[in-house]
Amino acid sequence: MTTQPLLIVLLAAGKGVRMRSAIPKVLHAVAGRSMLAHALATARAAGAAKLAVVVAPGMEAVRAEAATASPGIEVFEQPTQSGTANALLAARPALERHRGDVIVLFADTPLMQAATLRRLTAALEAGAGIAALGFEAPDATGYGRLLLDTQGRVRAICEHSDASEEERRIGLCNAGAMAFRVSDLAGLLSRIGNGNAKGEYYLTDAVAIAAADGLITLPVACTPDEALGVNSREQLAIAEGVFQQRARRKVMEAGTTLVAPETVWLSFDTTIGRDVVIEPNVFFGPGVVVEDGVHILANCHLVGARIGRGARVGPFARLRPGADLGESVHVGNFVEVKNAKMEAGAKANHLAYLGDGRVGEGANIGAGTIFCNYDGFNKHFTDVGKGAFVGSNSSLVAPVRIGDGAYIGSGSVITKNVEPDALALERSTQEQRPGWAGKFRALMGRRKKPA
Ligand code: UD1
Ligand code: CA
Repeated sequence: MTTQPLLIVLLAAGKGVRMRSAIPKVLHAVAGRSMLAHALATARAAGAAKLAVVVAPGMEAVRAEAATASPGIEVFEQPTQSGTANALLAARPALERHRGDVIVLFADTPLMQAATLRRLTAALEAGAGIAALGFEAPDATGYGRLLLDTQGRVRAICEHSDASEEERRIGLCNAGAMAFRVSDLAGLLSRIGNGNAKGEYYLTDAVAIAAADGLITLPVACTPDEALGVNSREQLAIAEGVFQQRARRKVMEAGTTLVAPETVWLSFDTTIGRDVVIEPNVFFGPGVVVEDGVHILANCHLVGARIGRGARVGPFARLRPGADLGESVHVGNFVEVKNAKMEAGAKANHLAYLGDGRVGEGANIGAGTIFCNYDGFNKHFTDVGKGAFVGSNSSLVAPVRIGDGAYIGSGSVITKNVEPDALALERSTQEQRPGWAGKFRALMGRRKKPA
């Protein structure tokens, strides 16, 4: 058994009308990553030596996403969206250059697993002419049906819209992914016509044509979850739900406590250490790394942040891209951190905005502190030194530097740098009038009109 070089062609040119969207279907996201990028990651993990994607004219954003997710990928244009066989033909130059196996994968099946694709090529190695991925659909509506012969081989695939009543009762559906030997493809594709309900050139027709040539198509089974094809917003939400269930299970298996797993939303790349406790209603956007022993209290929104060992975040905290929390940092309720480093042991426990800055080791940021980072044109840096104490309700107007160990009096608007260990105070002197309140009350009481 020898492994052949593998070319994977992703089909992404479909209009995706059922999404009712101005954005191409395959750019809609599951767990913070486009469906296209999910499919590309699966294709790479399956060991593809070469990747190609077929897009429609004008899909510049899809091209760009493909190039970012898989540098070096070949992009082909399908001039008109007249079916999956016609889409594969658009990649003809890549097919002509290739020697080995080809897997055709749809870019709208974001939950497909790499190991499943490898079972398709294994079926070719075991003697199949074509391998077709099938699954038992709980609701088969819309899917093509695999028609098996008495020996359990696939004799044809019949699209839902062309299927008879009897064929529609078949639960075994086409998951979309198919494997071919590249040497067979040109001959098969050239004979596919469009005499069907939709007037499209169906790749699935290759199976019946191959059978007439004596080429065997073997079915390879996968779970309904991974076969889920996203054609509508409802199916997008179902795919998201399945992804989340998988991801939650994985983080729990790796040693994280999710108090209410179904309320925690993870991203495709969320990384969580051991003995982390995550309370209910926490949302992870892309790019979050959580180190060991962290406690995330309820209702936090986290994107592009690192949370260092033993830190405590929330409840109701917001960490935005570039938030970098060191060991044992505390970030409490209604605190927002963006593009700012908090060094070990620093604390901001209540109601603060820390944007574009550094909070030195062990420094304490009082309630209501604002880093005034934006002047309407540019962003500026606030630097709070090690062990500094910023009193409540202070505005630090950037660019500004607070020296190590300095104190900022509550309510100050700090516009100038503060020396290490100094006290900086910016507020008017308090006035006091002894006995004033009693006299005032007596005067007002005399003047009050009866009700
Ligand atoms: C397709 C299969 C069906 C299978 C289902 C699994 C065909 C004819 N039908 O149906 O058997 O059960 O997927 O999810 O293959 N595309 C192009 N160019 C086109 C048409 C489609 O690139 O001209 C791309 C789409 O972007 C999409 C994929 O091919 O990624 C599948 O097309 P779609 O229209 O979603 O096919 P289904 O009706 O879902
Ligand atoms: Ca589809």
